Amino acid sequence: MSHPPAAVPTGPSPTGPARTGPSPTGPARGGPTPTGPSPTGPARTDPNPAGPTPTGPTPTGPTPTGPSPTGPTTILVTGGCGFIASHLVRALVRRGDRVVNLDALTYAGDPARLADVEGAPNYVFVRADIADAEAVERALATHRPQVVVNAAAESHVDRSILDPGPFLRTNVVGTEVLLRAAQRHGVARFVQVSTDEVYGDLEDDEPATEASPLRPSSPYAASKAAADLLCLAYHRTYGLPVVVVRSTNNYGPYQFPEKLIPLVILNALVGRDVPVYGDGLQRRDWLYVEDNCAALLLVLDRGTPGTVYNVGTGEERTNREVVAAVCDLVAHRTGRDPAAVGALIRSVPDRPGHDRRYALRTDRVRFELGWAPRVAFLEGLARTVDWYLDNAAWLTRASGGQFAEYYDAVYRRRWGRDA
Ligand SMILES: NC(=O)c1ccc[n+]([C@@H]2O[C@H](COP(=O)([O-])OP(=O)(O)OC[C@H]3O[C@@H](n4cnc5c(N)ncnc54)[C@H](O)[C@@H]3O)[C@@H](O)[C@H]2O)c1
Repeated sequence: MSHPPAAVPTGPSPTGPARTGPSPTGPARGGPTPTGPSPTGPARTDPNPAGPTPTGPTPTGPTPTGPSPTGPTTILVTGGCGFIASHLVRALVRRGDRVVNLDALTYAGDPARLADVEGAPNYVFVRADIADAEAVERALATHRPQVVVNAAAESHVDRSILDPGPFLRTNVVGTEVLLRAAQRHGVARFVQVSTDEVYGDLEDDEPATEASPLRPSSPYAASKAAADLLCLAYHRTYGLPVVVVRSTNNYGPYQFPEKLIPLVILNALVGRDVPVYGDGLQRRDWLYVEDNCAALLLVLDRGTPGTVYNVGTGEERTNREVVAAVCDLVAHRTGRDPAAVGALIRSVPDRPGHDRRYALRTDRVRFELGWAPRVAFLEGLARTVDWYLDNAAWLTRASGGQFAEYYDAVYRRRWGRDA
């Protein structure tokens, strides 16, 4: 199908995994059929009553083995207005769980990602910062979740190089605040959403297992590694039923355009240079966001407390291959000359400390929980490109404002070195 480059958006097309996990392998548009209640009814906001003053964690008795066995589970998801967690929230709402989305709405948070579930009776939005202990305590005291999924984070490596401060505050301090509150309220499951970047650069090494050493390279990865270790310490010391999920690079609808794939789509669409760091031979494993959410649902329901689960496809691609595939798809979907779009690709000075390769062994999530990726790379990429073409207004809005300033700092002024 051919799209005009600046297609008028027809509204976001919801995509998200169904209750039993795996996403469909069907055609480009639309997600799986919802299995939970249809999102109707009045929008709800946090009643926000005052809560008790937070105190330190206290060790509790035996570790619970999972979420409540009866009735709908109340799940507090942090960062639910972000890329990955918005897909997870949608899936949880559709399968009938009660979802409390706690998000500070930073530059990366956008409630429009969840416009289709906003009015659901089993969905509540709370605007709060995970590093604000009183706000977190209030949210847990009010909504009494059995499960906490921590996906809130400063998530972009390049920004962490420009300024590590917010990464330490949200990713480390914020995670500890949440852990403490979860411990105090006796939650039955705490899922930490983490990344393969904690293992660092594996240029010539074997793929990382969950027992591999943590050797983070960027301030972002270091802050995520610190958070993982705090989570595991809370399990060991206080018996908090924590599970850590380390996934590879995600891609799919609604990803903020600072990340590689939507950035290439954006630049290819507007005819701007498509930047590739250094030689572009860095290798990554690309995971369609619905496949990651399917793994998160399995871990949330059945993961073993105190355990880390790696999640990835096992397929590696160089950044150059990925960028070329995206440019090719954009050209074909918009009826342009593939050679002309490909000619936009330019090498730019490399990101400082850039890891050459990430790779994971994922036997545990596959054999213990029965997870497998369902969406092949080129199929996921086609769905993603089509989604951005159909939602050009979202892309335009996301790439406006302070995004231009960030883009200049990273790509035009070469990390400030020749600013
Ligand atoms: N994107 C990837 O490829 C990838 C891969 C592996 C792991 N992860 C991890 O998955 C999680 C989600 O990543 P993403 O790319 O969807 O992130 P994102 O940047 O798209 O969204 C982050 C969300 O967290 C919210 N947030 C930030 N700071 C907050 C704070 N202090 N309090 C409350 N909310 C706050 C933002 O408003 C936003 O909605 C992160 O923990 C990230 O480390 C991401």
